[in-house]
Amino acid sequence: MCDKIYTMRYMGSKIKLLDFVIPIIESLCNDGDTIIDLMAGTHSVGYALKPNHRIICNDIQEYSRNIGVALIENNGVSLTKDEALQVYNSVEKDSKYNLFEKFYSDTYFSKEQCVDIDKIRHAADLQENEIRKALILTGLMYAMGYCQSSAGHFAQYMPKDNPRIQNLRKLSIKDSFVSWFSNAKVSNTPYENVVLAEDYSDLLSEDVAKEAKVVYLDPPYSEAQYSRFYHLLETMVKYDFPALKYKGLYREDRFQSNFCYKNRVGDEFEKVARLCKENGSSLVISYSDKGLIGIDKLTKILKCHYDSVDIHSKAYKHSMQGRGMTDSLHEIVISCH
Ligand SMILES: C[S@@+](CC[C@H](N)C(=O)[O-])C[C@H]1O[C@@H](n2cnc3c(N)ncnc32)[C@H](O)[C@@H]1O
Repeated sequence: MCDKIYTMRYMGSKIKLLDFVIPIIESLCNDGDTIIDLMAGTHSVGYALKPNHRIICNDIQEYSRNIGVALIENNGVSLTKDEALQVYNSVEKDSKYNLFEKFYSDTYFSKEQCVDIDKIRHAADLQENEIRKALILTGLMYAMGYCQSSAGHFAQYMPKDNPRIQNLRKLSIKDSFVSWFSNAKVSNTPYENVVLAEDYSDLLSEDVAKEAKVVYLDPPYSEAQYSRFYHLLETMVKYDFPALKYKGLYREDRFQSNFCYKNRVGDEFEKVARLCKENGSSLVISYSDKGLIGIDKLTKILKCHYDSVDIHSKAYKHSMQGRGMTDSLHEIVISCH
């Protein structure tokens, strides 16, 4: 069984597929080798690899970097539920910390839920220890995911007449924040792990990338941009009072990944494979058989750079973002060396 800490429901999370993915990655390296998790999301893969490997993890989103500091860079710092409650009680309502109350009351959250989000966000800024701050922000992300009035992500909120909304509005941000810490005892590491928030191609062009024996790539496989589905987490972490757009109240400056465009995704995979090969790293890719590029086409691109390209496949049940579950998808892992 792989080590795991649940943070939130996240599109494409590998937390339920670790027993499939981790042995494939580990078969290409030895204990102590450095592994890059290039698009780490909730860091489920890096966390499972953490006991035996040095991890360099990366994702373009700042909320993801924050989870990486809490779970991957963290060398055994944890908070108890009592300490989390003390954190919550340590601050009073402050007029400078009113972003959520001002922008999002009665949308994704009730006014009361927004006030609690602002309060915990304020408490996080008062921490002197970066790892404690990251743990508090990760607990708050869990609470936001649990209490939101939406279909399980932040692309749009429920209309006021939705019959489920009354119950969701009653959920307590404070209680779910505190509850996260009962299952969040973070593991130690003997290694100096690194957490980054860059575009993947910048990272693969830096010297640090040459240290990796294996690069693990888990990119978006559909047109859904993560910056649209999780914009509220980005805003909570940055707390920068951004300009908002559209009914979903999205940040104007959100990142658009080329992996989410059918006419660009092939070039992106070509770039990843070329840079990893130049750096001397093996490459492991998670993808779906329903992705924007077909597995045959993808394999052809990878074979231009690597002598050995092996395909592993597993059927799995998949959440359709509030529209139930389907088991018609196959998770594909391609290993190249
Ligand atoms: C399928 S998710 C990764 C899920 C992750 N393995 C987990 O278990 O949570 C894809 C991630 O790619 C990131 N991403 C998309 N384009 C990127 C880019 N150009 N550079 C870095 N990260 C990117 C997204 O922010 C998202 O978190």
